[in-house]
Amino acid sequence: MTDKSSIEKRIAELRGLIEKANRDYYDLAQPTVGDRDYDMWEAELLRLEKENPEFATADSPVRNVAGGVSEGFAKVAHEPPMQSLDKTHSKEELADFDTMVRKEADGFTYMVEPKIDGVSLSLRYENGILVRAATRGNGRVGDDITANARTIKTIPQVLPPTAPKTLEVRGEAYMTREGFVELNKRQAAAGLEEFANPRNACAGSLKQQDARVTAERPLDVVIYNAGGVGCDGFASHSEMIAAFRAWGFPVAPWSKSCGTMDEVFAAIDDLQERRHSFRFEIDGAVIKINERRFYDVLGTTAHGPRWARAYKYAPERAETVVESITVQVGRTGILTPVAELRPTELAGSVIARATLHNADQIARQDIRVGDHVWLVKAGDVIPAIDSVIPEKRTGEEKVFEMPRTCPVCGGEVVRAEGEVAMRCVNPACPAQLSRRIEHFASRNALDIRALGETVVDALVGQKLVADPLDLFSMRVVDLYAVEISGRRFGKNAQTVMDALAAARSLPLHRWLFAMGIPNVGVTVAKDIAAEHGKMSDLVDSAVLRNVIANDAKKGKDRQILQIKVEAAKAVLGFFEGEYGKRFLARMAELGIDPKSEKPAEVRTEGPLVGMGCVLTGTLSRPRGEYAKLIEAAGGIVQSAVTSKTRYLIAGENTGATKTEKARKLGTEVIDEARLRELLSRGS
Ligand code: IVH
Repeated sequence: MTDKSSIEKRIAELRGLIEKANRDYYDLAQPTVGDRDYDMWEAELLRLEKENPEFATADSPVRNVAGGVSEGFAKVAHEPPMQSLDKTHSKEELADFDTMVRKEADGFTYMVEPKIDGVSLSLRYENGILVRAATRGNGRVGDDITANARTIKTIPQVLPPTAPKTLEVRGEAYMTREGFVELNKRQAAAGLEEFANPRNACAGSLKQQDARVTAERPLDVVIYNAGGVGCDGFASHSEMIAAFRAWGFPVAPWSKSCGTMDEVFAAIDDLQERRHSFRFEIDGAVIKINERRFYDVLGTTAHGPRWARAYKYAPERAETVVESITVQVGRTGILTPVAELRPTELAGSVIARATLHNADQIARQDIRVGDHVWLVKAGDVIPAIDSVIPEKRTGEEKVFEMPRTCPVCGGEVVRAEGEVAMRCVNPACPAQLSRRIEHFASRNALDIRALGETVVDALVGQKLVADPLDLFSMRVVDLYAVEISGRRFGKNAQTVMDALAAARSLPLHRWLFAMGIPNVGVTVAKDIAAEHGKMSDLVDSAVLRNVIANDAKKGKDRQILQIKVEAAKAVLGFFEGEYGKRFLARMAELGIDPKSEKPAEVRTEGPLVGMGCVLTGTLSRPRGEYAKLIEAAGGIVQSAVTSKTRYLIAGENTGATKTEKARKLGTEVIDEARLRELLSRGS
């Protein structure tokens, strides 16, 4: 990659990948990539931005603390902001850090602590009483989770009189390892989705609207950092930690004071050996300068303090053998090859399978059946094959070929142009059906919680359902008797029935998303639903046909419209097809007629009548709140700027590319204050 345009493209691509990973990890608490890939993207992006400063922007994810603030919680401003830590991955990088520090400071020592893989939080005390707990959020503004934090037994509610009257401390909340295993057993038994890892389970538990749910989760904390008030009087980090302990806060059960870098290296090796002995998961060590008088001298970067560094442990790996490669069929018919491995223990669990993504990936890594391979996990959600060990080849290994027919239904398999994936194109394929039903029941779709993978497979396998809509004609007695791994579904049957009854009146966008039409994700479904009143309006919709027609005429707006054009085509195609027609007829028979949450016709009154508005950046109030106000004023909230957007409401940290694009399209860029002014004009 030498020419500038391909570098710029790669930078954009990396930002997209990192931003999506951040959203999945922080906002949805559903990680989609492993730490290793994430760190590699981050390192590559940092390097490219450094070598090509003309492409570096202030809103780049490597220059901001990841992790958004969620709706439904009061907001808490962090002063000073809660930062992240710069990472190192090798002792050489750590030695460079030491050299950098020595240029500016002299006569200091280090503390090495475990880097806990949890959720950072801040605790504020007034008159010695816990008054506020908050998540980091985006670093400047977090979510108020006081009620939830009060359920964590080890967080002191009242401090001893020796503690400062007003105090803020910061640390990490985590879910204990044993607690995590127990919780997942409970989830599975209740037919609910299991959590991917303790960090995720912790994040999900802290973001509960009902503190009684949090109270049942095995959470704990470690306090390791000063907050904005009450922590100034300490000469060293270790003295401060000792005081925290004396005031009743849980602190790290292990830490080491080091005078030299050799001692630091020995400490991080020692910690690595102990990593599985803690109640929490750790993903590295944190190296901090102990003498606090150097903190101001060294200062901070946008990312983190210059007096501390994280040292990430190389992902643990284990050698195993690829015994065979099987192929799974997903909701849209995509065939995914999976390596069936000789079971091996890695990072505390036994692994027997790893996804291989697609045929190209297998070819790229040259993975053959019978190969010895390195398996990685390291806090990752999904185990993955890191590399083949070629020295161990005997010549007996077999190159894998994707099947030419669907392994489940025997139907035709095609590889669409420009796609890496192969698809089974038989709409009646039972594997696709199971996954479609699972999607239909998923949280953002119809939210029928007790219908997880195993339950759905059982329903399809026992021929109780042959289509997602069949769920609505199931009888509670049949469901009660369904056998799942040798046991009856039992009491959960009623839970499913209740959820199905509730699903009947969910709004149009939820149903549209539930149908699993390609290219129709949550946001697109909302956009489309907002333009239509009910499901049958989507058939041969003039709005959708217009989107496609305009796209053919235009050139400029193409990129912005692209998603919608693809989605518009897919939706029209869906209802033109036999299946779509039957689906609609069946809904009518079942008496299900979801309505758009917004009336199809635009309000005719209000200061923003008919005006498209896009909210972006960090705003002082939740987006949902502003969206409601804009709609009440007659405005239309859009997910992306198009030629129809009148205002781009830009919060803090809005990227320059976004505002420029808006200006080019004739959209006025305004701030929050101006929006409030417009809203307050009344109609
Ligand atoms: S000190 C200004 N100490 O790791 C931030 N952080 O990846 C100073 N973390 O945001 C943080 N264990 O949430 C510190 N012993 C420890 C830590 C720790 C885990 C977290 C923290 C931070 C993140 C960076």
